Amino acid sequence: MKEPGRLPAGCAAFVLAAGKGTRMHSSKPKVLQTILGTPMLAYVLHALAPLFGQDIYVIAGYGADQVRQSFSDAHMVLQPEQKGTGHALQCARNQWLNYSSLLVVNGDTPLISAAWLADFIGRAQGADIAFATITLPDAASYGRVIRKNGQLQAIVEARDYDPARHGANTGEINTGVWWLDSASLDRLLPKLDCANKSGEYYLTDLVRLGLAEGLDVRAVQCGEDMALLGVNTPAELASLEERLQRQISSEFMDSGVIMHAPGLIRIGPRVTIAPGVELSGPCEIFGESSIEKGARVDCCCVIENSRIGAGAHIRSFSHLSGAEVAQGCVVGPYARLRPGAIMRENAHVGNFVELKKTDLGAGAKANHLSYLGDAVIGAGTNIGAGTITCNYDGHEKFPTTIGANAFIGSNTALVAPVNVGSNSLVGAGSVITHDVPDNELAIGRSRQKNLRRRKI
Ligand code: UD1
Ligand code: CA
Repeated sequence: MKEPGRLPAGCAAFVLAAGKGTRMHSSKPKVLQTILGTPMLAYVLHALAPLFGQDIYVIAGYGADQVRQSFSDAHMVLQPEQKGTGHALQCARNQWLNYSSLLVVNGDTPLISAAWLADFIGRAQGADIAFATITLPDAASYGRVIRKNGQLQAIVEARDYDPARHGANTGEINTGVWWLDSASLDRLLPKLDCANKSGEYYLTDLVRLGLAEGLDVRAVQCGEDMALLGVNTPAELASLEERLQRQISSEFMDSGVIMHAPGLIRIGPRVTIAPGVELSGPCEIFGESSIEKGARVDCCCVIENSRIGAGAHIRSFSHLSGAEVAQGCVVGPYARLRPGAIMRENAHVGNFVELKKTDLGAGAKANHLSYLGDAVIGAGTNIGAGTITCNYDGHEKFPTTIGANAFIGSNTALVAPVNVGSNSLVGAGSVITHDVPDNELAIGRSRQKNLRRRKI
């Protein structure tokens, strides 16, 4: 489907994201709950961006500081107390008065897309108040659309719904996506009250109030796709996540990515993977990760915000975060690459090796049991088993540099700041506290003495 373009000036989007999400039973604000490693709110903002550009406002309240921290680029409006969806918009009056038309969406609807929104807005054009509806077999806890002889009357929230008064349930429900004329909104919002079972100011009451004033109020029927519904419970979160996971995996398989146990491979929405890459589940690949052609990721790996070059092989149980792995590298099994880890072409990192802010040169090897932090290591160097860069003195971090084609013997402690030259050799078991020049042998340990054993 073609990506829709920017709407004309004078339109803005408001995302309702202040609620606690009581039914999630979590201290995390609901919109920060993740789907495939990405907060729900990020999906909503991503769908809005092509249509609204910078004119997007997030109304935050519960956990607003956390929301602000996670989305520092977004315009935030504070709803200090959560008194309902209508009250949330009242709190953003200063912002929406600057625009003529507003889109309002809930921040807990991660599967909403720009194309769907553009279609809805097209059908809502010219209305004073419009909202999207879908029809479900069971209206569950959603706001129910009440019609009389087909004519829209009101939205009644599930808790306030009374079949005797409101008529038989038709299954048509409010998705919570609105298109509002801001002048009409400004007239109607002060009329909201909280005389309902939740004691909240409901945005949904705009429908009844608008119709009473003879405004053009439209319920735009948008089919039966449950994807438009928000996440309210852990079970709903899991089911949307599964749906998105299946969608992403089948798109990659269609493009030529080979997946073993695709049901157990979880790939985030911003990940790119070249055709011909081979993945084995279970594994997670999240954030802004990319994997180039011919690379392999074996089972039980977790990869986030990392770049994996062509033909690289990530073996089982490796954990990569903020790492760059160039072509032909071999990682793991059981390796940990932390942020700032850079492996140049054909470098190897083996089992129980941790790299942090470390640049490992082309063809260099650290194959067993090492910690390499704040280090630059030259091409072709071999780091023996058990080598540790002692980069932290309890207060500050210090760098270690090792030149090209050096050989660091097993169980060496490199006490930073320290430099080890190219083509140098460090004897096994050394504690290196002074620089080692190029082409020299350094041994920093006491000489072995063999003494006659005492008679027992
Ligand atoms: C809302 C609608 C309901 C619709 C459903 C669709 C109202 C009164 N009800 O119900 O008709 O069927 O969405 O998913 O609008 N929020 C705030 N401030 C508040 C309260 C909520 O910003 O004071 C935000 C929440 O963070 C959430 C959104 O508004 O993103 C919807 O709130 P929620 O409590 O989930 O509303 P529902 O009961 O699902
Ligand atoms: Ca909801």
